[in-house]
Amino acid sequence: MKKVILSGMRPTGKLHLGHWVGALSNWVELQKNYKCFFMIADWHALMSEYKNASSIKENTFDNVCDWLSYGIDPESSVIFSQSEVEEHLQLFMIFASLTPLGWLSRCPTFKEQVKQLKEKDINTYAFLGYPALQAADIVLYRADFVPVGEDQIPHLELCREIARRFHSIYKKDIFKEPQPLLTQIPRFMGLDGRKMSKSYNNYISLDEEDSELERKISEMFTDPQRKKRKDPGRPHLCNIFNYYSIFSPGEKEQVDRECRNAARGCTDCKKRLIQIMKEFVSPRRRKKKELMRKKDYVAGILQDGKNKAKEAASSTMQRVREAMKF
Ligand code: TRP
Ligand code: SF4
Repeated sequence: MKKVILSGMRPTGKLHLGHWVGALSNWVELQKNYKCFFMIADWHALMSEYKNASSIKENTFDNVCDWLSYGIDPESSVIFSQSEVEEHLQLFMIFASLTPLGWLSRCPTFKEQVKQLKEKDINTYAFLGYPALQAADIVLYRADFVPVGEDQIPHLELCREIARRFHSIYKKDIFKEPQPLLTQIPRFMGLDGRKMSKSYNNYISLDEEDSELERKISEMFTDPQRKKRKDPGRPHLCNIFNYYSIFSPGEKEQVDRECRNAARGCTDCKKRLIQIMKEFVSPRRRKKKELMRKKDYVAGILQDGKNKAKEAASSTMQRVREAMKF
């Protein structure tokens, strides 16, 4: 039997290369060796986007098309939306009942996000319970592993603690305690050298047009010390070089050498990167456009995913009710 993985993304906007490098590329590999559940975390999205709730549905469709065009395989992985499987909220309510307030209010991600997202009015009742809902997401599918970034580790720890508290209260071990799957995620930055993010407007989206790829990459900073063409460069300080190492690792050594001895100029270096990025993005963008037109096909994938997810989640909920005699 394959080990089970669950992961999710919040449909809060368009996906960009940061999502590819930080999560999606990893998912595509993991689905070869694990039974994967990939979830659109629309309830989690609502917690920050409640004022703009109608965007969540649009983003769900858009993001699923990205997942598919970038290689998530609906034959081997279960692709579904959280809100379509009612068990998530049912188990969330049970977890909300048994989770001490302090565990949630002390969660570093809660403290951090409240500070960061002031403009979104996110200091809400539901948002405090974010990790309890995430815990329900994970244990419903008896996930062995959850591929997450560093930032999500506290949520996974809380998930394990909540599961243990359930077991100790009802004297029955029914949940698996999930382990984080910390894959080596390469350092990857936005166009301006800060973390790639929608809010910084420094991203390349997964369906970026060729002309935009060209414009965005041409405007990127290179090594500031390379004022003249014959100045030797320092590739390790250049964001362009970092993109090479991720999207064309085979060329990395050559670029490194030619940059250091000023055998290549930044303009040519960018031109080649534009070519590489077009070769990567364009076929996927075209595939996505095709999928966006096949609404029924994509809806069918989500429906099929819902059925499979529901099967796993309802059997867990059955055991939950038995353990609780509730
Ligand atoms: N909190 C995750 C994020 O912001 C999204 C998410 C929701 C998730 N439920 C999950 C991730 C369950 C992994 C497992 O990225
Ligand atoms: Fe960066 Fe390339 Fe210019 Fe070197 S040659 S500084 S790697 S853009």
